Amino acid sequence: MNIPDNFQVIDHALIHHKLGLIRDKNTGLKEFRELVTEATMLLGYEATKDLSLKDAEVQTPITTAQVKTVEVADIVLVPIMRAGLSMAEGMLKLIPNARVGCVGMERDHETHQPVDYYFKIPNQAQKRTFIVLDPMLATGGTIIATVDRLKDLGADKILCVCIISAPEGMEAFCEQHQDVKVYTGALDDHLNSSKYIVPGLGDAGDRLYGTD
Ligand code: URA
Repeated sequence: MNIPDNFQVIDHALIHHKLGLIRDKNTGLKEFRELVTEATMLLGYEATKDLSLKDAEVQTPITTAQVKTVEVADIVLVPIMRAGLSMAEGMLKLIPNARVGCVGMERDHETHQPVDYYFKIPNQAQKRTFIVLDPMLATGGTIIATVDRLKDLGADKILCVCIISAPEGMEAFCEQHQDVKVYTGALDDHLNSSKYIVPGLGDAGDRLYGTD
């Protein structure tokens, strides 16, 4: 399978381990939530490694030190509701001062296109780095539409973190947004006729919120 340059499957022993537990249908609600948070932290660690840095100076107890800092107030986490909210918790453990903009998308019954019913994003999009969070990159429709909306606001620094991806979503997303990098924990086999990822983990929202 051809993997686009802007799509990265993060190969890490702990991510493999946690994905095994996340996929297991016998994993309970509490543990599932904790694992999603933990997997997001591992993916987020890798996804944020090239955030831009600024030089700064601090006084240590001994002397002056030249240090590097991330402009955390310019980082905006964008969880796509509802399953993305649990990923925001993981990312906030890494970047506790990040801003959070929430997006809710649903499919229009007539056009079948994703439309947002909720879109609350901090202003000054041009100077922000947006980290879009959705555990499942399935068809890609929702996440493509979210990035479209962010770009409409002037955003040009956007990256996405997904726990599990389908080849169909990867291809659709990477064709539409070649300038936006996607970090994922696994590239699965395919989508089934109900657009669930196979083997996947089932419905991420239902498993996170106990609505199955
Ligand atoms: N959304 C989910 O929650 N699971 C899938 O497999 C695909 C989309």
